[in-house]
Amino acid sequence: MFVSTAALLGLVGAAAASPLNIVPNYPPVKQSTGFRLVVNVTDKALDFSPSVQGLYVNSIHVGAGLNEVGIGSKSDNHGIFYQNGTAAEGRFNGVTTITDQGTPLSPYGISLTLDPDSKTLSSAYANGGLGTKGVQISQFPEGFRYLGPETYVICNVPLAYYQGTKFNVVKQAATTISSTGQVERNIPEGCVPIRLLPECATLEDLPAGSYSSHEFAINSDCYADVASINWSLYGP
Ligand SMILES: *[C@@H]1O[C@H](CO)[C@@H](O)[C@H](O)[C@H]1NC(C)=O
Ligand SMILES: *[C@@H]1O[C@H](CO)[C@@H](O)[C@H](O)[C@H]1NC(C)=O
Ligand SMILES: *[C@@H]1O[C@H](CO)[C@@H](O)[C@H](O)[C@H]1NC(C)=O
Repeated sequence: MFVSTAALLGLVGAAAASPLNIVPNYPPVKQSTGFRLVVNVTDKALDFSPSVQGLYVNSIHVGAGLNEVGIGSKSDNHGIFYQNGTAAEGRFNGVTTITDQGTPLSPYGISLTLDPDSKTLSSAYANGGLGTKGVQISQFPEGFRYLGPETYVICNVPLAYYQGTKFNVVKQAATTISSTGQVERNIPEGCVPIRLLPECATLEDLPAGSYSSHEFAINSDCYADVASINWSLYGP
């Protein structure tokens, strides 16, 4: 009997893929109001050198009360974030993600603002203020926990505040559907597609006189230690 190599490979593939890869399996999560955001490079071929894998989201001061969202080592001024909103807002994508800064401590919400020359690419800011609703951690039935809306990217861009010195900053590329029905992720050339994963951290109590409030800080799903997750064990 004639059996094509392709059919044979298909059979081998099917055997290899079952049943381990069919049953969804995701890394364990804990709950915490506070979390750090850790960079996970989702396409290693597009990573920078040195790699941005495992770096932590921080903020780059670009004026009074103004910050670009940047990345750095864990010890380098990383932010502790929390999701703010009611339970109903949490379910319906109405939550914001906030870090407390300034004296007295005030809410600096992550906001996404479309770049002037683009229809899909937004810059991420952590300015004094409320932040953009829907910048929040994914939830069930999604199996992984990461900041939405997808897709976040790291781009190396000059910042005017630093006379054009280049920084690695977080931006967001909106997914679109082309006229032919093709899903376009719109990852800009030269930028690294990533996910920002919540790593549990202690949200400190606010000192008296703070402008921030943790009354609506949501108990969020987060990973205890992102660096220790072996991704090849999980999916789809
Ligand atoms: C993190 O990146 C790896 C590839 O580098 C990928 O396999 C894994 O699914 C990613 N994690 C999440 C939560 O997307
Ligand atoms: C936090 O969420 C509550 C409930 O929706 C809202 O009243 C409050 O203004 C929010 N705070 C900030 C800083 O966004
Ligand atoms: C990750 O899991 C795979 C599959 O079990 C294993 O082969 C690999 O050695 C693990 N990697 C680490 C760093 O533990």
